[in-house]
Amino acid sequence: MTGKFIVFDGLDGTGKSTFIKMLAEHLQDKGCKVSITAEPTKNKWGLLIREILSGVQKASQQEMAALFLADRIAHNEEIDELLQQGYIVLCDRYYYSSFAYQSDDETLSWIMDMNLNCPGIRVPDLCLLFDSEPELCLKRIKAGRSGQQLEIFENLKSLNAIREKFSKIEEMLNKSGRGENIVRIDSSPPLDEVFEVILNTVNSFLN
Ligand code: TYD
Repeated sequence: MTGKFIVFDGLDGTGKSTFIKMLAEHLQDKGCKVSITAEPTKNKWGLLIREILSGVQKASQQEMAALFLADRIAHNEEIDELLQQGYIVLCDRYYYSSFAYQSDDETLSWIMDMNLNCPGIRVPDLCLLFDSEPELCLKRIKAGRSGQQLEIFENLKSLNAIREKFSKIEEMLNKSGRGENIVRIDSSPPLDEVFEVILNTVNSFLN
């Protein structure tokens, strides 16, 4: 039996990681084999990416897009193996993030092209795209990082820009006819309510 590949993507501060854990527990209780994974990975490219994200090393956005691509190609080998063993693979971020975070008007089609036309990169069976008002995302990010001062306006500005790109990408891909199955999840309501929506979406997809 082959498994299913479900991606959780979207803005920072929308609760993706929390919901992944909740869904994994729910599916395991139902007797499914579940594996949680994430990008950037913990492999060589992922570690280099983490160093750049934390400012230890420098790289341009185009270099970052290429590094995420290399990380994703290596990651797909692991994902393929798990799927062949019948796992439901829940992945925290995937190529949707590269389109939203690494692109600008000039580079979006190049970044989409190299990811979507790469033979080593699979199309997810389902992508839950988490969305919320950037003000609320910031509040949640701040609550998760006590004591750390955030550049509120800078972050709000970039969250707004990234949100807009996610929305554009969702529309483009769902219309593309390449088998994308992106469902937007509004993560503004209380946790239990959002999880209910996630369960309904995933259960109707799996059944
Ligand atoms: P995040 O998903 O918030 O994980 P953690 O809580 O472990 O830090 O952070 C990953 C960061 O990587 C996030 O800021 C988005 C970024 N990213 C990209 O810029 N491009 C990509 O292709 C991916 C997968 C992630």
